[in-house]
Amino acid sequence: MEKSDLQFFRDWFRDYTSGFHSRDRDMEWLIQIKIGHSYRVGENTKEIGNELGIGKNDLLLAETIGLFHDIGRFEQSVRYGTLHDDRSENHAILGVKVLEKESVLSNLDKKEGEIILTAIRLHNAKALPDIQDDKTLFYSRLIRDADKLDILRVVTDYYERRRQKRNPLIELELEDGPGYSTSLVQDILEDRISDAGELRTLNDLKLLQLSWIFDINFLPTLKRVCEKRYLERILKGLPDNSEIREVDSHIRSYIERRFIEGA
Ligand SMILES: [Fe+2]
Repeated sequence: MEKSDLQFFRDWFRDYTSGFHSRDRDMEWLIQIKIGHSYRVGENTKEIGNELGIGKNDLLLAETIGLFHDIGRFEQSVRYGTLHDDRSENHAILGVKVLEKESVLSNLDKKEGEIILTAIRLHNAKALPDIQDDKTLFYSRLIRDADKLDILRVVTDYYERRRQKRNPLIELELEDGPGYSTSLVQDILEDRISDAGELRTLNDLKLLQLSWIFDINFLPTLKRVCEKRYLERILKGLPDNSEIREVDSHIRSYIERRFIEGA
């Protein structure tokens, strides 16, 4: 892959997404968030990849996957008015369909195209399946890290400002109250990523986002999560009780252990 390929992809992305702007205020805000998210995830894949020591060409591939990973979100938002995959369709698979239909990757060699499409298709899977090819596995893990890193940024920022401006679409239309599901707490205490299908309240969503820590693959990503204090900031928006304090200290010791083990 050449630098000019990446430039072509950036131009295509800009043109494609410009067709999705909306007169509806919440929807337009969401489209803007998704455009910004795509560019930042492109940057994240590049930065994390760079810190992991991958070569120049691999960085181009990484950035392409980052930029395109949520391309299905645009059609999903406009067609269904929701980001809920369960209530519409899987946006990762939809994204692969969009890239194939528009022949966006046709200039790349076959193997590179396949890596990009596989990494995009699996970026939101609850867990990665067995992947035999090392390169495909690496990029699939990288995009999942880069994506989570930026979602944590977006939601932390949103939770801290939502008193001024709420957006039900970003909250997945979940009920906001003091309650939460203890099964999500249990998942965290057992180092397990939770299931998005189990969410009932906004606090559940926050707990799910905390549980992503168990699916961070690379230390440079973990380092960034800690530097920005995303988890502490999400925890601040949860009820102050002994159960949540246990979640807090469990997450802290998990992270500490990862850094000590160096993997
Ligand atoms: Fe996504």
